[in-house]
Amino acid sequence: MRLKRLSAVMLACLVLSACGGVDPASPLGKRKAIFKQMLHTSEDMNGMLLGRLTFDAATFAASAETLDGLAHQPWQHFPQVREQDHTSAKPEVWERQARFQQLARSLEAATGALVVASRARPLKDLDLDQPMQNVESACKACHREFRDH
Ligand code: HEC
Repeated sequence: MRLKRLSAVMLACLVLSACGGVDPASPLGKRKAIFKQMLHTSEDMNGMLLGRLTFDAATFAASAETLDGLAHQPWQHFPQVREQDHTSAKPEVWERQARFQQLARSLEAATGALVVASRARPLKDLDLDQPMQNVESACKACHREFRDH
């Protein structure tokens, strides 16, 4: 009986440490997962524009929709009070909410514009360079101000 409980505890620890000590069901775990998905999605899109992956208009357009959907999601998972551990969000996120929200809206605007650009037919990868760069700049602008590296 005691042994059983011990192994349950150990299992829970293993599961937690597999994700860097962050509970995937917590607000922190949820926003980190969304940010990671945004990164993976944008990496593949950049890959297509840089020639690392074959450019395919339909795939790119679908990824733009996915990225735009994801871009609206992380913000609700920043709770009222900052977590003490495992977060790389600077205290400024909570201290300068208006500015943080402004940069969140600017990412959403950039991903929205990317969706519109990716609906053009015929779709040329060259026409997507600028809208994609605007998205990347929106990511970087916020990380520069609000993320600890
Ligand atoms: C409005 C601000 C803001 C914007 C815009 C933003 N991020 Fe972030 N990002 C953050 C903050 C804050 C964190 C730290 C989250 C934490 O650890 O609590 C973060 C963390 C991350 C992480 C690390 C997740 C982890 O596992 O720790 C990745 C990857 C990431 N962002 C990718 C992106 C990408 C890609 C974009 C653009 C498509 C983007 N972010 C746009 C604020 C932003």
